[in-house]
Amino acid sequence: MTDEVDVLVLGSGIAGLFFALHASSFGRVAVVTKKERPESNTNYAQGGIAAALAPDDSPELHARDTHNAGAGLCHGDAVTALVTEGPRRVRELIELGATFSGGADLSLGREGGHSRRRIVHAADLTGREVERALLDAVAAEPNIEIHENQMAVDLLIGDARVEEPRCVGAMVLAEDGSGLTEVRSRVVMMATGGSGQVYAHTTNPPIATGDGLAMAYRAGAKIANMEFIQFHPTALYPAGDRAFLISEAVRGEGAVLLKQDGTPFMDRYHPLGSLAPRDVVALAIDRELKQSGDDFVLLDCSPIAEQEIRRHFPNILAETSARGIDMLNEPIPVVPAAHYACGGILTDTHGRTSLPGLCAVGEVACTGVHGANRLASNSLLEALVFAARTAARIGPNLAAAPHRKGTPVRREIGFGGQCVDTSPQRAELRRLMWDLVGIVRTDGRLREASQSLSDLALRVRELTRDAELTPDLLELRNLIQAAAIIVISSQGRLESRGLNFNLDHPFRNNERFLRDTVISSR
Ligand code: FAD
Ligand code: SIN
Repeated sequence: MTDEVDVLVLGSGIAGLFFALHASSFGRVAVVTKKERPESNTNYAQGGIAAALAPDDSPELHARDTHNAGAGLCHGDAVTALVTEGPRRVRELIELGATFSGGADLSLGREGGHSRRRIVHAADLTGREVERALLDAVAAEPNIEIHENQMAVDLLIGDARVEEPRCVGAMVLAEDGSGLTEVRSRVVMMATGGSGQVYAHTTNPPIATGDGLAMAYRAGAKIANMEFIQFHPTALYPAGDRAFLISEAVRGEGAVLLKQDGTPFMDRYHPLGSLAPRDVVALAIDRELKQSGDDFVLLDCSPIAEQEIRRHFPNILAETSARGIDMLNEPIPVVPAAHYACGGILTDTHGRTSLPGLCAVGEVACTGVHGANRLASNSLLEALVFAARTAARIGPNLAAAPHRKGTPVRREIGFGGQCVDTSPQRAELRRLMWDLVGIVRTDGRLREASQSLSDLALRVRELTRDAELTPDLLELRNLIQAAAIIVISSQGRLESRGLNFNLDHPFRNNERFLRDTVISSR
């Protein structure tokens, strides 16, 4: 790993790669990624990318749906940028080599909360196609290097005696045991994705351990709206610790949620029925399960023609079939699972964070487009739009930005020889977050979670005092940090809005809480 680059990008999902492609015309870009290059949430995206491309659609309608889902907290300027620049970025992705269903006449799917068909997709493996196309494009770009199996540990901060705190690079740990490198960079782009692994049941792959969120928090950057964790209503039951997603696009094509006795229930909760926004559907399922005592509800796909299921959902058909479910002839058992962090490192509409030198884009960032609840398929679009905007902002000034010396935010992890197994602590964390900070919260459960997290953090600190510095251990610390951020943010919002439902404060309170929850370690 080189120790000096123009631009250091942390993460190789859609946000990091699209940004790298845009930034590469201005300087040398190094992309650091902690596993093999395609491994990311992006790679597992199913439904698609929302963009107002149909003749009966418009950016205004897309904006209206986004604001409706976001329950009053979306930032108007960010939403306008998303919906007006989105179609152009999707076309750019196609020019880069991504192939979507329908070819030149894009076939547009529908998902919850959307008033029009606007989901560009590659059958039900959209993310894999996007990741493939971006990695191919990056491979052809001589100004970009990708460093696999290298984990960013902490940010480097410039000399605070000389100037205000700024990010000047990152500490990177090689998985092959060759140790830590201090990588200095004119600008650092945080594109490390989400933190779904904080929860016992999640659709997110193992990489989603909140590393970027925790690093930025430790470095003093502002973090916003982390109480808004989106639970996807339809993960395949049993969800386990890596749930298989049954795309919302399946409901978009007509599938209906039923109780186990065969009764539909969503019409009692929302005029859009099974296609209501996700916060409504996940909460309704949670309620129905608590009332009935059942472990799952059913997704009846019989309204969709067999030919359509085979064409649009080949991966879901194959995965369910491998687990003994014949979705062509029987309903699929489903439950909610943690899916997406609507909050993150607070940015403006050009990827600027509150820490100079640090940009953020993708799921790790909070641009303000999602508000209190993300509209389905808006996150891949958000990554494209804000990655391009950030590169356009930093590019022209890049050469003038100097490399600076810096020190790591934290040096406390030991370099002792002991190898520590972190799986019991991970399981404990994920269970407590699921039980106490899930779809339905209360003040008491949040207090209990806060206490349990402090105890766990203390025990992990003791356990790791003389431990070997491993990615596993670093992830555990980041998971605990991310969980604490979610709890603190949830405790700060004494109302129910969007994805934050608290039984002790069951109504919206616009007077006090029509604003972001912003926290920082400074
Ligand atoms: P990611 O794609 O998660 O990439 C993060 C990258 O950072 C990875 O390469 C990871 O290895 C790397 N990384 C993490 N920590 C470190 C570290 N410490 N050091 C170095 N590298 C690190 N959204 C939609 O809009 N439409 C969909 O249809 C859709 N379907 C989804 C289906 C599933 C199953 C899931 C899980 C999510 C889905 N989403 C969807 C959400 C969407 O996929 C993500 O929000 C989006 O892909 C995030 O992109 P990203 O680039 O920000 O992060
Ligand atoms: C899905 O396919 O249901 C996921 C879409 C999303 O998370 O935006």
